[in-house]
Amino acid sequence: MRIVILNGPNLNLLGRREPAIYGTRSMEQVLLDIQHAYPELHIAYHQSNHEGDLVDNIQFAYGVFDGIVINPGAYTHTSIAILDALKAVDIPAVEVHISDVSSREDFRQISYVRNACFKTICGKGTDGYLEAIDALIEKVK
Ligand code: DQA
Repeated sequence: MRIVILNGPNLNLLGRREPAIYGTRSMEQVLLDIQHAYPELHIAYHQSNHEGDLVDNIQFAYGVFDGIVINPGAYTHTSIAILDALKAVDIPAVEVHISDVSSREDFRQISYVRNACFKTICGKGTDGYLEAIDALIEKVK
């Protein structure tokens, strides 16, 4: 099974970005955890600070990956383009947020991408990425 993890803006700064909200683990550490937990899976990772680049990577996933884990960062709350790309490729997708967006600011209460994801995981810290992969394995098998 092939899964791509897509992270949006500022998630390259995990580990030192607002650690009280996003924790102290870097994405490199999270990816190592994932590789240890799921050695049989082919996992690709891409982070971008640019909306169109995320759209390009979702389009690229078509025919290549069986599942998408996506944390679009702030684009969650603004991007119809990312939503449309997820709908266009129609690959099972899980939305992840490290923080519990439901208990944060009003502007974080809308998620466009949620409409194209079969599951949303919020507020579990970086363990949310592992939970998302579990959900994809369950969905695709
Ligand atoms: C986030 C929540 C978003 O509101 C925020 O803009 C992020 C990270 C999260 O993982 O909790 O960049 O997606």
